[in-house]
Amino acid sequence: MTTTEHKHVPRHIGIVMDGNGRWAKARHRPRSFGHNAGRKAVREVVEGCLRQGVESLTLFAFSSENWLRPEDEVSALMDLFVRALDKEVDELHSNGVRLRFIGELDAFEEPLQKRMLVAMKRTASNDKLHMNIAVNYGGRWDIVQAARKAAIAVARGDLPVEAIDEAAFNRWTCLSELPPLDLFIRTGGDRRVSNFLLWQLAYAELYFTDTLWPDFNQVSLQHAIDDFARRERRFGRTGDQVAQA
Ligand code: FPP
Repeated sequence: MTTTEHKHVPRHIGIVMDGNGRWAKARHRPRSFGHNAGRKAVREVVEGCLRQGVESLTLFAFSSENWLRPEDEVSALMDLFVRALDKEVDELHSNGVRLRFIGELDAFEEPLQKRMLVAMKRTASNDKLHMNIAVNYGGRWDIVQAARKAAIAVARGDLPVEAIDEAAFNRWTCLSELPPLDLFIRTGGDRRVSNFLLWQLAYAELYFTDTLWPDFNQVSLQHAIDDFARRERRFGRTGDQVAQA
């Protein structure tokens, strides 16, 4: 693992990639055109993270609620994911990126599920950047699936209830082996979390930008990281205590 050399570089960044539809609308093109343009921004951010030594990057590509979108948009997004997997995995692999999908993957059609599994297996031992793509994912789902695992362990007699504390619970949540989320970025102007990484957001710094996702690039990422570097992270302590530490 490339360790983050500079303490002001976040170890783990999570991004809600919003604004593809509006970007396309402004160009009188279908929403799928915006999603497709969003791929370039994904490449930019991956490159930026590799350069800066960010260890983990988690992208919200498809929420559990996105199935409610018009059928043609959902199907265009699925096609896009398949094409992106076919085209991008080689380069991600050669750049040392470990790819992981988080969310309820069984809801996707067999060929897409298969491609995700193949990409995860193929890149599993890479450690330059841990890239996680949240698909059919919701932060509440993650907490509920962790609670279920805890309940099963208790019901089987493998775990006393008193042993369930924050650290133990954390182990059942997605991404538990990665550093906690340091920086949450949302593009597209809205200032909400939209059910992304709820458990992992506890101490993350929040950064919102009006830039629409297809326009987000390495310079935009740098602005977000610079903003993060100016924040004082106190984790419940006083400013004086942090300064002394
Ligand atoms: C939200 O914008 C974006 C999505 C639901 C899809 C995100 C997908 C990509 C960026 C495609 C590339 C990703 C990968 C991992 C290959 P929106 O449609 O809600 O935008 P709007 O708010 O302007 O309507």
